[in-house]
Amino acid sequence: MPFKAASIQHPNDETRSPNATTTVDSANSPAFLVVTQGLKNAFEKIDRGGEAAVLDGEAVIFDGGGFNSEDDSSLSQDALVRQQLAIFRQVNEGPNADTEEIVELGFVWVLGRPRVFASDEVWGGPTTSGTSPTDLPWWKTAVVYQIYPISFFDSNGDGFGDLNGIASKLDYLKDLGVDVLWLSPIYRSPLADMGYDISDYQDIDPRYGTLKDWDNLLHGVHERGMKLIMDLVVNHSSDEHDWFTQSRSDKSNPKRDWYIWRPPKYDAAGVRHPPNNWKAVFQGSAWEYDAHTDEYYLHIYLPKQPDLNWDNPEVREAVYRMMKFWLDRGCDGFRMDVINILSKADGLPDAPISVPGDAYQHASIHFANGPRVHEHIKEMHEKVLSIGGDIVPDDLTLSEYDAFTVGETPFTHDAEELAAYVLPKNKELNMVFQFQVMDLDHAVQGQDQVPLIHKEWNLAQLKEIVTRWQTFKRDDGFWNATFTENHDHPRSVSRFGDDSDDWRVLSAKLLALFQVTQGGTQFLFQGQELGLKNFPRTWGIEEYKDVASQNYWDKVSAQRKEISGGKDVDMSDILNDFAKKARDHARVPMQWNPNPNAGFTKATPWMRVNEDYKAWNAERQAGDEESVLAFWKKVLKIRKEHPVLISGEYEEIAHEHEQIFAWIRRSNEEWTLTVLNFGKASATLQLSSDSRPWSDLKLEIGNYHSTGEVPIAGDAVELKGWECRLYISTNVN
Ligand code: GLC
Ligand code: CA
Repeated sequence: MPFKAASIQHPNDETRSPNATTTVDSANSPAFLVVTQGLKNAFEKIDRGGEAAVLDGEAVIFDGGGFNSEDDSSLSQDALVRQQLAIFRQVNEGPNADTEEIVELGFVWVLGRPRVFASDEVWGGPTTSGTSPTDLPWWKTAVVYQIYPISFFDSNGDGFGDLNGIASKLDYLKDLGVDVLWLSPIYRSPLADMGYDISDYQDIDPRYGTLKDWDNLLHGVHERGMKLIMDLVVNHSSDEHDWFTQSRSDKSNPKRDWYIWRPPKYDAAGVRHPPNNWKAVFQGSAWEYDAHTDEYYLHIYLPKQPDLNWDNPEVREAVYRMMKFWLDRGCDGFRMDVINILSKADGLPDAPISVPGDAYQHASIHFANGPRVHEHIKEMHEKVLSIGGDIVPDDLTLSEYDAFTVGETPFTHDAEELAAYVLPKNKELNMVFQFQVMDLDHAVQGQDQVPLIHKEWNLAQLKEIVTRWQTFKRDDGFWNATFTENHDHPRSVSRFGDDSDDWRVLSAKLLALFQVTQGGTQFLFQGQELGLKNFPRTWGIEEYKDVASQNYWDKVSAQRKEISGGKDVDMSDILNDFAKKARDHARVPMQWNPNPNAGFTKATPWMRVNEDYKAWNAERQAGDEESVLAFWKKVLKIRKEHPVLISGEYEEIAHEHEQIFAWIRRSNEEWTLTVLNFGKASATLQLSSDSRPWSDLKLEIGNYHSTGEVPIAGDAVELKGWECRLYISTNVN
């Protein structure tokens, strides 16, 4: 065989799979090339950071930090243990094989745990067509399920969901087709912003359990071949974090500079003002005055969420140490909260006036995608997350973790701006959540978006956004995070579908197909798989627990009272909007069964349960082949069976159609047609009479005909109200 096989042995490594400790026998097994530190040195030309290189036309190898006990005998045992990264490459069998056809399957042994990653796409690489699932890294094929822990399942009857509750539902998630769980924050927190205000990053809030419970949950997740990622909230901490307590205690405290403090400004009349005019996302000034030291601190969100000062290297080191704490414990990666606002504009200048007359102005122009943000994320990657980066023997870093990263990047509409976080060559994040679809129905006041107030949207706008991102910088390896719900948005069926009794099931299924047949990593939010909808308009403001809703309500009602001279004011219009737009709709308890409180808890739930749970719950849908849940399971399975849906090229058709959204996906092996009728009225899709072999297509799944292979007959597809169909053809010639 025309390749080298090396053995990997390590005296301290008892847990490693026995296969990994023996020399690869090229006669009987697929050929492996093991990239060791020694080989790495020999192939200096190979790019750092996991990029693939083709050598001598016979093997594709990775630059990895493996070791070979002979080559690295100078390293201490301890260092070797820390360097148990070996990358195996399966290469072609014969000298004449075409290197293009190399089967690329990689295994990485990390501290004894095998991780399959595969191919030249560890960092993305060009978004290739014609791939099989094993050609893609695991995080591209993954289905991620977001859990909002406080509302998922209460195991001990106190009204709050908890870690043991999640652990008891793992089979449900596995069965659904989930690969990765993302937990919204479960760290110690006063819950001023539902845990996005952390007072101890390295402990679990007692409401949710203990670190031991977390270990136990992780074990259950890994045992089922799934992964667990945590929410990393490091733009700000809680004001109850010890770092902040110290910071505010004294101007000379060593942690003073860990947050962003500035002296007041005084006007001519001697009245004290904040250092600039920035408005907080949750209303009011973005600065809070602290009388104790006579200075203000910056909080882009609540006063209870002071912004950390990322310009301070000690802050960054502390965050990296904390990330390693979780990764070393076995966490598989992070969703990074508002990661694009870590760096603020130099000098913290006033924001431009977008709403004249308001004391405070929307300031994301000065805090989103700021001057040093990419520097910080690159550093984070290099020091914590990278695969195949430098190995620093005395400091457990880097390449041991094959960590998943998705950044939350709000306030950004320029695609180029977001590309910088994602493009593989930049080595920052695997993907980001961009919010253009989510922003579609936000009202606009002045130049500001007001997410809690509803605005009409139309299909042409949706098409434009989806198509832009599905085709965006594919050749450079841009990769999408595809989602239609999360804990910050109302339910998708109430928003983009039709949640009335007649159309709810159909439109929820249509939205499932809408999401799953788009390229990218898939994200589902708890309850989305059941077609859960917003809670009703009849609920009063007292049912809205989110501080974003409460603060907006208080602000508007105060303004109106001022005008009315203190008399009662009509707020029904605001409630109309909240019924459509509040974050609260995503945060009510999960609907498990028809028992009291939807089976979520035996106590009084922390938030009221939606009223439709007797008919709309997981148990009932699990026993119904026609349910939204059953449909999600099927489409997630289809996506895995047809990788063209994960990474194939995208082409929109019938762009001008006002009601039908349709697109083609294509790879070297297959092509698909997604057809979605966004409305109650029936509609016809006229297929072009170009050379496309439409009749090769077979119906794979739809929400009216759930089975049967129905080819496209003739040149038109007739769709009933909210009908969706996915056609697949394996004929690409
Ligand atoms: C993110 C979270 C949101 C939170 C905010 C402040 O947008 O998703 O829930 O309120 O950050 O941390
Ligand atoms: Ca509980």
